[in-house]
Amino acid sequence: MVWKKVAEKDAVVPGKGREFVIDGKKIAIFNQNGFHALDSVCVHQDGSLAPGKLDGDIVECPLHFWHYNIKTGELLDYIKGVKLQTYKIEVKKDGIYLDV
Ligand code: FES
Repeated sequence: MVWKKVAEKDAVVPGKGREFVIDGKKIAIFNQNGFHALDSVCVHQDGSLAPGKLDGDIVECPLHFWHYNIKTGELLDYIKGVKLQTYKIEVKKDGIYLDV
């Protein structure tokens, strides 16, 4: 477990997501009822989930509208048992930290 500062505290505005490349991995951080982090690459055709529309804990991939739970990484459409990796996230005084 390695906590790493990935962004300034205000880098992700409420109700939105943003993609960061951390150690070569594309990770989406969402500021929606708290902060959540998960792999940002959709398993369908590699769309980025970060700019996806949010509805509660659900993000919609902007390309073809597949849905994922941003807390668990679970894909909610079409294929059972698919989960994107999620990461522990902590917002400290000096920024946003991920356990990567
Ligand atoms: S790339 Fe995400 S739904 Fe197609």
